[in-house]
Amino acid sequence: MKILGIESSCDETAISVTENGRTVLSNIVASQIDEHRLYGGVVPEIASRRHAENISWVAKAALEEANCTMDDIDAIAVTYAPGLIGALLVGVSFAKGLAMSTKKPLVPVHHIAGHIASNYISHPDLEPPYLCLVASGGHSHIVEVKDYTHYHVVGRTRDDAAGECFDKVARTLGYEYPGGKFIDAAAKLGDPKAYDLPKPRVQGSEYDLSFSGLKTAVINLVHNAEQKGTPIDREGMAASFQATVARALVDKTMLAAEHLGYKTIGLAGGVSANSGVRELLQKECDKRGFKVYMPELKYCGDNGAMISCQGYYDYLAGKRADGSLNGIATLSLDAISE
Ligand code: KG4
Ligand code: ZN
Repeated sequence: MKILGIESSCDETAISVTENGRTVLSNIVASQIDEHRLYGGVVPEIASRRHAENISWVAKAALEEANCTMDDIDAIAVTYAPGLIGALLVGVSFAKGLAMSTKKPLVPVHHIAGHIASNYISHPDLEPPYLCLVASGGHSHIVEVKDYTHYHVVGRTRDDAAGECFDKVARTLGYEYPGGKFIDAAAKLGDPKAYDLPKPRVQGSEYDLSFSGLKTAVINLVHNAEQKGTPIDREGMAASFQATVARALVDKTMLAAEHLGYKTIGLAGGVSANSGVRELLQKECDKRGFKVYMPELKYCGDNGAMISCQGYYDYLAGKRADGSLNGIATLSLDAISE
């Protein structure tokens, strides 16, 4: 079964064709990052306009690369939540038009469910149930993946998402937006013990995360150094910061896995590309005899394949949308699992 998956929730117009939920036949990503970089972040109005300009040719290219036409496609999957509303609406409207004109089923897909599904592409043996750490630019969750379409979020960030924190710290250290990958590269050259940064702490829920205190600590250290005219060890700061974030994400995930009885762990979202997070998660899982699954680097960031893949499982579960489908800016995974 072939699914055309459409993703436009943020700054990537991405469309893919997958077969039976696991095999990627094409994966086209039109990134707008060069334009948003000029403003230091994603400008929603520009994102919507670029999606509108790009979506038709991206769809055409995805079909061509998969060597098929719309006649070969069995269903159209589209990200409808969460994300930038104007950006989501471009993908949703395009998908609705395509579904209506070709009389194909339309399947609404949750963006974070899509990130979680990115692991099905690279790991044919991965099947729910398992525990997944999802860390992206907008979300940081520890999720029980109960089956292919039911989730329970057991931990979430109380403030900034991990990726957001990477980007803000990167900006403070003088790196371009989005700075996660620059911190990752710099951290490889620095000493993770160069700076003693506060460990993120959260009162109340044992699996929740918090990154704003850590972010503020880095910003204050850098500004104080600037005022005193003392140099900042950028690589050392990047390494110390990355090690602290990785430790917080991985420790909470291990704690939740041990308490809830999971021995299979997934990692997903843009921050899953981070080498420090990947290495520490692998190490801690190996120590406990847990099996760990991480997406290939090309499926860590936003892409159409993950939406197409999740769309297959949502299709099998009977999820369908009609011409009234709308974009939703905020929608939790728990809300779609009832
Ligand atoms: O999942 P994603 O592509 O978009 C959202 O759904 O938010 O995540 C983007 C985030 C950005 O904050 C970016 O800086 C971060 O993922 N990111 C990284 C790395 N590559 C991307 N963060 C740390 N290390 C990386 N190597
Ligand atoms: Zn994403």
